[in-house]
Amino acid sequence: MDLPRTLISTFRGAAYPVVLTGSGISAESGVPTFREAQTGLWARFDPQELATPEAFARDPKLVWDWYAWRRKLVSEAQPNEGHLAIAAAQETFPNFTLVTQNVDGLHQRSGSSGVVELHGNICRTMCSVEGTEVETYNEGESPPLCPACGAPLRPDVVWFGEMLPYVALGVATEAARRSDVFLSVGTSSLVYPAAALPFEAIENGAMVVEINPGETPLTPHADYALRGRAGEVLPRLIRELSK
Ligand code: OAD
Repeated sequence: MDLPRTLISTFRGAAYPVVLTGSGISAESGVPTFREAQTGLWARFDPQELATPEAFARDPKLVWDWYAWRRKLVSEAQPNEGHLAIAAAQETFPNFTLVTQNVDGLHQRSGSSGVVELHGNICRTMCSVEGTEVETYNEGESPPLCPACGAPLRPDVVWFGEMLPYVALGVATEAARRSDVFLSVGTSSLVYPAAALPFEAIENGAMVVEINPGETPLTPHADYALRGRAGEVLPRLIRELSK
């Protein structure tokens, strides 16, 4: 696939590039996506049973154990070429914003800093009542209990029906509104408010580039839709920038 020259030159000249990632960027690290037929987590598990405050209230052990399984999977995964290419790009732009819907921490582990996490991080644990982060707890319990108040602990992720972290969403929205180049990578563009971010960029006249092997509701609105895997397309794109 030849990368369009205008895409490269516009990206190279960007003052405020923004990259939004979804689970597709971690697929090549062996972390399952959500909505893909057969392999997606929501094809195999019911989110209403596992990823809502009601599910946790009903069966905290089931929910804790499911997240413990995912946490183990993520901790055994390694960042891939896509994560690394984004970390490299971040070095070359002074005002680069990386926004992710992923909870796997792979961007940070690939060297990216200041990652705006819209949906939390599965590696962090918090008190289900106080909302405070808890670092030390009894790993043998399921779920473990808050050392301060005794309430069950939960993963620090956004569940269906919950608000996104206020500060992260604010930073992401501001960055999208200011952006001149916006990359949407490995996301189905179905989940709001994250899916609204590229449209904020479009409002600002930004060049919007989608990197995804499949089509999404964003595709018809993007200036460029690069059909391919993030781990393949991103390194090529970043190499071109430095030529
Ligand atoms: P989805 O599972 O909805 O979409 C994954 C996207 O990644 C699809 O469009 C795939 O075509 C694409 N994809 C697969 N492999 C890829 C690859 N190697 N390179 C590039 N793209 C690839 O996942 P998300 O869009 O991340 O929310 O889902 C958004 C949110 O829905 C998640 O953050 C999660 C979920 O419910 C919460 O948990 C709050």
